[in-house]
Amino acid sequence: MKILVVIAVVLSTGLFFITPKASAHGKVSSGGTVDAQMKKLHAMMPMFSIASAELETALEKGDSAAALVQAEKIKAAVPDLKKSKPHKNVKQRKKFVDIAISFDEAITSTVNLIKKDDIAGAKTAFKKVEEVCATCHAKFRD
Ligand code: HEC
Repeated sequence: MKILVVIAVVLSTGLFFITPKASAHGKVSSGGTVDAQMKKLHAMMPMFSIASAELETALEKGDSAAALVQAEKIKAAVPDLKKSKPHKNVKQRKKFVDIAISFDEAITSTVNLIKKDDIAGAKTAFKKVEEVCATCHAKFRD
């Protein structure tokens, strides 16, 4: 079990940091017109990454107060996530919104379980959140 958690953490946080960002940045800066929806998404993702790592640590420590702060931070960004737009597969907007809806459900359930002080349940729910991060990236991130 422990090993699986470690693998999940490495995959979910590690991979995000080694993402090639050049193409996304290039389009934004060289295109002249900055698409506000794309910019929003681009600004949101590093926060997701940091908040996820801190949430994971808090859950490991059984610190539900700290976990709740991070989970609420992620949840608060969901309305913007639903409105935002990826650079890749831009036309598959419905799919993007569908994934954002699954993301919403998973993070909402994480928040609710933390509020009930169900750390084990919250860990499982948060794994689902991270799976949705990966699903969306597989489809919409370069
Ligand atoms: C609904 C789709 C979607 C979800 C869900 C999602 N991401 Fe992303 N993420 C993207 C896209 C698209 C990009 C590429 C950014 C861009 O095009 O500006 C990205 C990029 C990133 C980056 C690289 C930084 C950047 O701006 O390029 C990180 C880090 C990241 N995501 C972390 C996360 C984490 C952690 C989660 C889950 C807690 C998550 N993302 C959930 C779509 C998503």
